[in-house]
Amino acid sequence: MTSYKELGLVNTREMFDKAMKGKYAIPAYNFNNMEQLQAIIQACVETKSPVILQVSKGARDYANINLLRNMARGAGEYAKELGYDIPIVLHLDHGDSFETCKECIDNGFSSVMIDGSHLPYEENVALTRKVVEYAHAHDVTVEGELGVLAGIEDAVSHEVSHYTKPEEVVDFVSRTGVDSLAISIGTSHGANKFKPEDCTRAEDGTLVPPPLRFDILEEIEEQLPNFPIVLHGSSSVPQEYVQMIMQYGGKLKDSIGIPEEQLRKAASSAVCKINIDSDGRLAMTGVIRKVLAEKPGEFDPRKYLGPAREELKRMYMHKNRNVLGSADQA
Ligand code: G3H
Ligand code: 13P
Ligand code: ZN
Repeated sequence: MTSYKELGLVNTREMFDKAMKGKYAIPAYNFNNMEQLQAIIQACVETKSPVILQVSKGARDYANINLLRNMARGAGEYAKELGYDIPIVLHLDHGDSFETCKECIDNGFSSVMIDGSHLPYEENVALTRKVVEYAHAHDVTVEGELGVLAGIEDAVSHEVSHYTKPEEVVDFVSRTGVDSLAISIGTSHGANKFKPEDCTRAEDGTLVPPPLRFDILEEIEEQLPNFPIVLHGSSSVPQEYVQMIMQYGGKLKDSIGIPEEQLRKAASSAVCKINIDSDGRLAMTGVIRKVLAEKPGEFDPRKYLGPAREELKRMYMHKNRNVLGSADQA
């Protein structure tokens, strides 16, 4: 058993408290390799932002839980070495069972998500409650989910989204004891969040997706005043990266994300955590394709992973400063 406290990590409690009062959101960036982690830490130190490092089941399978735990420990030491001690949470993204959550808690995670959103309501309550009991006994915070996002949530694929029902949130939160709640208001996972036919065209020709359901978010805030809300599926799918990927031989179809101003608006509400994974994948892939296309003789991974890391860092700094508002809050 390794407590996150031994690793120099924190849970989400104080972080969310400050984010709620300060009307910003904590960035929750997924990672599964060293370059992503370096970029996240460099960006968050330079912008003085707290950060949630998220690990999905796919990331655990890819990278190994012992390595990931020690990378998170190293991230804290690295931040101090870079000159600023930022609060860091190590969070399990989309935990699928009590056993997965327990394993992560026992291995130094300071926060876990138990995603029972696809289960019948009462089963979601029972499973989430069980995780909360174990987690709270170890001072680990828990994120639950109500409502279903379209797209792929860790291998579970949903064609359509089911918005969170505001009339369920009080019952769910009080019976489970969760510390935060992920909701469904129109975001979805991956790089294809909307179909072009569901979008309108701006004057410059760009596709404008339908707005998020802020009316549902407001109802939830009325039901649960000052309770930390989480938005999954919040990549903006920057078209510069989509273009870069296409220009250098990639094939992406209908890649449309959540406009930044929608996320900015969400961040100033009860939304305290915003999950971003796909944008990092797009940035890395775009840069790696470009470098390899321009330098076909290059075979040192550092020569393409290095520039990808630089671009990632730039992107995370932009998000902290201009989208989530978490810069200068650490
Ligand atoms: O929840 C979605 C995340 O982007 C996880 O993705 O399971 O492929 O690592 P992954
Ligand atoms: P994106 O696919 O929009 O980056 O969402 C990531 C996410 O919600 C991870 O839990
Ligand atoms: Zn998610």
